[in-house]
This record gives sequence, C-alpha cells and structure tokens, in this order.
Amino acid sequence: MYEIKDGKIELEHGSISEGLIAIASGKGGVGKSTVTANLAVALQNQGKNVGIIDADVHGFSIPRIIGIEEEVKVEQESELIHPAQKMGVKVISMGSFVNEKNPVIWRSPLLLGALQQFFQDVVWNELDYLLLDLPPGTGDMVLNIMQKLPHARTLIVTTPQVTATNVAGRVGHMAEKMDSEILGIIENMAYYECSECGNKEYIFGKNGGKELAKLLNVDLLGQLPLMKHVREGGDKGNPVVEEANNDDISREFNKIAKEVIKRKKEFDPSLEPMDLKGGPGQA
Ligand SMILES: Nc1ncnc2c1ncn2[C@@H]1O[C@H](COP(=O)(O)OP(=O)(O)OP(=O)(O)O)[C@@H](O)[C@H]1O
Ligand SMILES: [Mg+2]
Ligand SMILES: [Zn+2]
Repeated sequence: MYEIKDGKIELEHGSISEGLIAIASGKGGVGKSTVTANLAVALQNQGKNVGIIDADVHGFSIPRIIGIEEEVKVEQESELIHPAQKMGVKVISMGSFVNEKNPVIWRSPLLLGALQQFFQDVVWNELDYLLLDLPPGTGDMVLNIMQKLPHARTLIVTTPQVTATNVAGRVGHMAEKMDSEILGIIENMAYYECSECGNKEYIFGKNGGKELAKLLNVDLLGQLPLMKHVREGGDKGNPVVEEANNDDISREFNKIAKEVIKRKKEFDPSLEPMDLKGGPGQA
C-alpha cells in the first residue's frame, strides 16, 4: 500500500505529508461529500496540496459537487492514472471508470481492489492531505479503511438530528474498536439563518454534534449552517468556499481547515498498513 518514510506516507507515485483523512457519517445524505469537497478547497486556501478519493461507488458525487474541469487521464502503456483537477484539488472517483447508465455490481473485493489501485496507480505527486469520501453506513468499506489504513484518521459528519448522531456514534465506536483515531466531528445543517431577519432556526435540532463529540471524547471542529446556495453550488459544481469567500459557511469551512491543520500529527512508523483487498476484515 504505502510506507512511512521521513515522516511522510510514501505512495507509489506521490506522498502525503500531513494527513490521510476519511470522512464518514453513518447516515446518508447528511453532507459528507459536500463537506469533503469544501474542506478540500478550504485546505487549499491555506496553501495545502489536497487530493480527494471518492470512495462512494454508488454515490460518486464528488466530481459533480466540486465541478471537475479536467478529466481523469489513463496512460496507455503504464496504466498510470492522472487525477482530474479543480483549482488544484486532485480528484479521483469511481464515477470516472463506470458508466452511469450501466451500473456495475461491485462486490467488496473488487471495490477494495479499485480503492487500492487509487492509492497505487494514481500519480498524486506531493500532497499535504488526502481526503477519502466514504460511502454511508458502517459497512465493509468503512471497516476496511479503519482496520487496514492505521494512519488514516476519521472525520465524522453528522446533522444535529438524533437519528443521524446515533448512526454517527456507531461509526465512532467502530473506530474505537479498530484503534482508528477520530480526528473530530463536524456538525452540518446545524441551523438555518433567515435571510430577512437573521433569526436562527434549529431545523434538525440543536447541538447534536456537540453531544456526540462529548460522547466520543473528541472535538467538535465546526458547525455549518444550512444554506440554499450550498445546495445550489453543489449542483452547479461550485463549492461555496470558492464562490462566496466571506459568508458564514465559508468562514466556518476555513476555520475547520485550520482546526484540521492544527491537529496534524506525525505518522507513526511502527504501524503498518495492510493490503485493502484480501485478508481479514473482509466480510
Ligand atoms: N449545509 C448545507 N446547506 C444546504 N444544503 C446542503 C448542506 N450540506 C449538504 N447539503 C445538500 O444536501 C444534499 C446531500 O449532501 P451530500 O451529497 O453532501 O451528502 P452525503 O452525506 O455525501 O450523501 P450520501 O450519503 O448520499 O453520500 C445535497 O443536495 C447537498 O447539496
Ligand atoms: Mg456522498
Ligand atoms: Zn425571518
């Protein structure tokens, strides 16, 4: 998979110097992919080199949300893959290799094999951060990443709603069990602020993210508001952080990026990654 050398994750065709971060939520539709795309741009705003692996094979929404300008290129002979890019953020997605009209039935080993290929055959060059947008649920993919990539830390996205924080809590406990570190919690759709009078409405309840953070004994890194232009930006391929740099949500994303950078930690050279395909952990 990779090695730890001179404090970096050395990939076949690149390196990661500050963080390998898996974005998970448990419950679907809470904004994982939106957070991944915007956090990538926010980190890039802080001068970091960022890559994203869209590991959600059924959803693969990252290319649409971030608005890919340049397609993935595969070299004929070497079969090396050059990621797509948007504002310098490098993106690789299962969506680039399957036809939306011909859904592929992915079995776990195949899926994990594809993910492993993204680590090994993609020309990432020098990255500071590699973000993995995970599928919803607490399935195989999430389990395998936590178990086999010991240098990956999990960022949990949840809405304040109890049904979301409960499932997110399960992801957290799963991480604890696997000795996989949780980087923090991000509460999305935390509130809606009326554009007319500024009144805040707590549509999905209040402080669910804070309570989850307390339960898992980790930090709440930010609370993102529910905003119409987040959804619109996501549909158009303009991450809000790029579009409106000084609204509440962009400021919060930039703050979260700083919190993530503050928590950077040396990669432990005594831990060894395992091959994603094959071996224990695969159901
Ligand atoms: N803060 C927000 N304000 C407004 N809309 C949002 C916000 N966050 C996410 N959305 C919208 O909610 C929908 C779901 O978001 P997204 O696709 O990021 O969730 P997800 O957790 O990745 O979903 P899935 O489980 O399907 O992968 C999208 O239409 C997105 O634009
Ligand atoms: Mg998603
Ligand atoms: Zn109002």
